[in-house]
Amino acid sequence: MGSSINIFLGLLIYVSVAHTTIFTSAKVYVVYMGGNDSDDPDEILTKNHQMLVSVHSGSVEEAHASHLYSYKHGFRGFAAKLTEDQALQIAKMPEVVSVFENKRRSLHTTHSWDFIGLVGEETMEIPGIWPESESFSDADMPPVPAGWKGKCQSGEEFNITHCNRKLIGARYYLSGYEAENQNSQYDDDPKNKKSFRSPRDSNGHGTHTASTAAGRYVTDMNYKGLARGGARGGAPMARVAVYKTCWDSGCYDADLLAAFDDAVRDGVHIVSLSLGPDAPQGDYFSDAISIGSFHAVSRGISVVSSVGNEGGKGSATNLAPWIITVAATSIDREFTANFEMGNGVKLKGESLSVLQMEAPARIISASIANAGYFTPYQSSYCLESSLNYTKTRGKVLLCRHAERSSESKVRKSEIVKAAGGIGMILVDENVDVAIPFVIPAAIVGKKVGNRILSYINKTRKPSSRIYSSEAVLGSQAAPRVASFSSKGPNGLTPEILKPDVAAPGLNILAAWSPAIGQKLKYNILSGTSMACPHVTGIVALIKAVHPTWSPSAIKSAIMTTASIFDKTGKPMRVDPEGRKANPFDYGSGFINPTTVLNPGLVYDSTSMDHKAFLCSIGYDQKSLRLITRDNTTCEDQPFSTPSNLNYPSIVIPYLKSNFSVTRTLTYVGNSDKKTVWTSVVAPPRGVEVDIVPRRLVFSGYGQKMNFTATFRFSGEPRGYVFGWLQWRNGKVRVSAPLVVRAVPFDLGSGV
Ligand SMILES: *[C@@H]1O[C@H](CO)[C@@H](O)[C@H](O)[C@H]1NC(C)=O
Ligand SMILES: *[C@@H]1O[C@H](CO)[C@@H](O)[C@H](O)[C@H]1NC(C)=O
Ligand SMILES: *[C@@H]1O[C@H](CO)[C@@H](O)[C@H](O)[C@H]1NC(C)=O
Ligand SMILES: *[C@@H]1O[C@H](CO)[C@@H](O)[C@H](O)[C@H]1NC(C)=O
Ligand SMILES: *[C@@H]1O[C@H](CO)[C@@H](O)[C@H](O)[C@H]1NC(C)=O
Ligand SMILES: *[C@@H]1O[C@H](CO)[C@@H](O)[C@H](O)[C@H]1NC(C)=O
Ligand SMILES: *[C@@H]1O[C@H](CO)[C@@H](O)[C@H](O)[C@H]1NC(C)=O
Repeated sequence: MGSSINIFLGLLIYVSVAHTTIFTSAKVYVVYMGGNDSDDPDEILTKNHQMLVSVHSGSVEEAHASHLYSYKHGFRGFAAKLTEDQALQIAKMPEVVSVFENKRRSLHTTHSWDFIGLVGEETMEIPGIWPESESFSDADMPPVPAGWKGKCQSGEEFNITHCNRKLIGARYYLSGYEAENQNSQYDDDPKNKKSFRSPRDSNGHGTHTASTAAGRYVTDMNYKGLARGGARGGAPMARVAVYKTCWDSGCYDADLLAAFDDAVRDGVHIVSLSLGPDAPQGDYFSDAISIGSFHAVSRGISVVSSVGNEGGKGSATNLAPWIITVAATSIDREFTANFEMGNGVKLKGESLSVLQMEAPARIISASIANAGYFTPYQSSYCLESSLNYTKTRGKVLLCRHAERSSESKVRKSEIVKAAGGIGMILVDENVDVAIPFVIPAAIVGKKVGNRILSYINKTRKPSSRIYSSEAVLGSQAAPRVASFSSKGPNGLTPEILKPDVAAPGLNILAAWSPAIGQKLKYNILSGTSMACPHVTGIVALIKAVHPTWSPSAIKSAIMTTASIFDKTGKPMRVDPEGRKANPFDYGSGFINPTTVLNPGLVYDSTSMDHKAFLCSIGYDQKSLRLITRDNTTCEDQPFSTPSNLNYPSIVIPYLKSNFSVTRTLTYVGNSDKKTVWTSVVAPPRGVEVDIVPRRLVFSGYGQKMNFTATFRFSGEPRGYVFGWLQWRNGKVRVSAPLVVRAVPFDLGSGV
């Protein structure tokens, strides 16, 4: 096996500029060939090369030059530079499931440019690791277990001594990235250099997410003195292996699959991916994350991933049922800056700026500070160059932020500062993400914004004074679903609820890479990227206590114990409008680490169930045989609609008059006496729900029992409606969301 890896590295060197000029119309494609069979890796490599030679008119050199990766441990396939025509030829070959372009993914951090302070340039998004962080200390950790096959790959400013008993593996993948970014000045101009050619983290994302999942206890974690205190990740004794697949322009499919392929071989137990495609997501087997995770899960590896930060309805990504897909919520800590108006009125807004004004100063609406050809309307958004220095100097500016715009809020504070302003109040609907402004500043909602405007309008010399940000506990109900967190329904398979669960992802403090910006050791970030590793940490805890549980059983435990209430006991709400949240916002609800180890019953499923799921959504026999490498047919499968996958939530997206689904529960409690479970239903509005049988009696660990849920439509159709089903035994409650959309008329097939 070692020699095949050497061959593989040798091939990388072939990808030279000279060759790329030959294939001017070539692009990188991923060729996916299903599950791996028993072929030895060298033979797989040879076969891949034969396929490439055959589409390169027999030229061995061109075939070698076009090859980027061969995947041979977790699944089969390769990545290569091909013309469209060559890609089509390969797609027709009998062993091929799919051929797709090397698409770019992005990290699921919101406003990361704001946190990095690198505005106007490409965002640097690189989940590597800062190995010196105290969060990855290996003090008191036992030696690395013998089963670990991973490695510590050296590279720029990173060598094998950087790995330890905590950080047990570190690799990086850049062939797919480099093939797509040939024109970047990477090597030529050191000033433009944005990342280390090694597993080292130069942008903080990887260090932040890894320390959230599994960071050691750090006694004094804080952000510029804010939120000071001891902190640790979810599973501080878990080991970490880093697979760096993301670079300045994103994370490419070819590299992601190479990382999955190695991770499976290395022997990881959990894969955590805080990244994903932009919505709408592609089909499962032309999507690197779906493919990699399918094969990982079929080998008992749990895969946790973020739902995305697009916020809108139907924007959820990472939709495959074998992934645990995580939405983001607030925690009970807010970062607020108080400010005072000249009339004595005290207000507050969201901010991470630790700067404050020493005295009150004149406050004006940015619209009257317009410079040159900018209209007052344009200037009211404090756009680049739109502010007149004479009018702005020494003042506090009231600026606006366009809804759902990707404009940097940090940048606005820099623009105000450059124009001589000494403070800023930013009016924005999304008052949840705290921003590290460069001057004293605060974000307020429209209501407060209008109050301030009207004070400015009515007052001859309006003034204001902004104080530094403070961490405030319990000022608002928490958790709330973050405004940016992507929402269901599932755009690919509406029968599967996504997201699955929600976890903290708003203003999260964790370790950071001091390679950039203000050289911080810890930083505060927001995104479903930050929510994902909270769940990863919990998966690690469950695996430690229940090592034999399947990825589906672990996922079920996390989902059925989640809560749909906030800490005050009221239904959870959604930022910014404060509407009542539903399963499209949080899936089964907010994770509950205290009950997750004792879920009582689980909705388990196996790779065979996932195969049946693929049959039910129309995958053909040929693809399925390649994917699963077995001889079963779709006719053998136990169900024909994806609603019947044994999932811990139930969605009926097209209810005509009535519809039944079957679920199987497995007892995983520790009683060896009989336990009696009773169903309790909160039916969705206008829908009757019948559970048969209503009581289930389990007599021992691992016993399975079925029940049927019949949904009958009894009212006016009103779009999606929500309810829940619980199985109760004493204090243990096994909850599942119910989501139904009645369509009494025929929507036609294939909708
Ligand atoms: C797939 O590859 C792995 C590692 O290379 C090997 O252990 C496993 O047996 C292979 N799977 C099958 C079904 O042959
Ligand atoms: C690896 O890095 C450590 C710490 O930076 C340094 O002391 C050591 O000499 C390096 N080793 C190699 C082989 O480069
Ligand atoms: C800025 O405002 C001052 C005072 O109103 C005016 O004299 C000047 O021309 C303005 N400059 C620009 C660039 O708009
Ligand atoms: C403030 O005055 C401006 C014009 O002077 C007007 O357009 C705006 O509606 C007023 N705003 C409030 C909140 O009174
Ligand atoms: C599938 O069927 C083929 C031919 O009928 C046989 O050679 C092969 O061993 C079977 N594979 C499995 C996994 O049963
Ligand atoms: C359920 O729906 C089917 C048609 O889909 C219908 O024939 C049957 O009578 C319905 N059953 C009940 C109890 O409503
Ligand atoms: C439960 O249902 C599955 C299919 O949905 C079936 O294969 C299995 O035999 C059933 N188990 C019991 C105990 O009825």
